[in-house]
Amino acid sequence: MNSMAGNRVKLYAAPMEGVTGYIYRNIIDDCFGGADRYFTPFISTNTNKTFTEQERRDIDSGNNRPRDVIPQILSNNSCDCIKVIRALHDEYGYDEVNLNLGCPSPTVVTKHKGAGFLAFPDKLDSFLNDVFVAAGKDGVRVSVKTRTGVESHDEFIKILDIYNQYPLSELIVHPRVQKDLYKNSPDYDIFEYAYTNSKAPVCYNGDICSVDDYQRITSRFNGLNAVMCGRGMITNPAIFATINGGDKLSSRALRTFHNAVFKEYCAVMGERNALFKMKELWYYMIRNFDGADRYYKSIRKAQRRCDYEAAVNELFANCAI
Ligand SMILES: Cc1cc2nc3c(=O)[nH]c(=O)nc-3n(C[C@H](O)[C@H](O)[C@H](O)COP(=O)(O)O)c2cc1C
Repeated sequence: MNSMAGNRVKLYAAPMEGVTGYIYRNIIDDCFGGADRYFTPFISTNTNKTFTEQERRDIDSGNNRPRDVIPQILSNNSCDCIKVIRALHDEYGYDEVNLNLGCPSPTVVTKHKGAGFLAFPDKLDSFLNDVFVAAGKDGVRVSVKTRTGVESHDEFIKILDIYNQYPLSELIVHPRVQKDLYKNSPDYDIFEYAYTNSKAPVCYNGDICSVDDYQRITSRFNGLNAVMCGRGMITNPAIFATINGGDKLSSRALRTFHNAVFKEYCAVMGERNALFKMKELWYYMIRNFDGADRYYKSIRKAQRRCDYEAAVNELFANCAI
């Protein structure tokens, strides 16, 4: 049993590919704060891997203002994975990494990576064995972020037996199976199994979208090490601060946050890409507003910066949070 009772439950900002790059992480931390730890979107390994320019920028400590940023690796090949862990440690100074065993996307799963790797327990075991031996020698801690199976939660009994053989710094559990993608509900019974039987400290992840959701989970599992939040954070970037007793999200705070993110995206990636990225954020953030359908349509339609800014102005002028 993972017994952390009495300790404060830590709050983690989930890795979200295409969304939570360093610009987003820096600005949410500046504007709202409240997260103890941020995870980078996954870095996929391959033979002869060199970091892409985007990956370099994302992991470079000079670009990252939050104190605690953990790079995430997506791999099913221990040699490739160990090389990336070494590079993250030796070249970028990281002493902890996270392994992605949860990505449900078909393009990842068909390569037997992410949640797709869970279908091959023997290979997973041997991969983890190699990785933990090498990381241990280098003094790098390794945590795992996992789904609870591919087809059925029953698979998790064996998967957890495997995880328990290694000194995971933490086990982050999103209690959906790969086949769920983001449908259905997180399964609290299989999470309870993980919580009760994991040798590593456990973090809960899945559908935490409000303070009530957070309280429901932490009162049922009162020895949790951490709670991780993804889509709930993109929808409401003040969620961590509010959980910590701070102000609820206000229209003004969301506006300030939005403007800062958009400005920096434009500066770094140009207006076209910035608009694309902002529309991804609005897919979630629009849920804060009542009666916003027509403004959301204008935001999605906007192809030029001036049209986009006009649509956003209209939204904030006409819809309350
Ligand atoms: C757009 C998107 C991108 C994601 N990218 C990653 C990723 O790079 N690594 C990862 O481990 N999980 C990724 N996830 C999964 C989230 O980290 C998280 O586990 C999942 O959304 C469930 O948590 P939530 O209900 O709080 O969002 C992604 C999810 C979404 C929706």
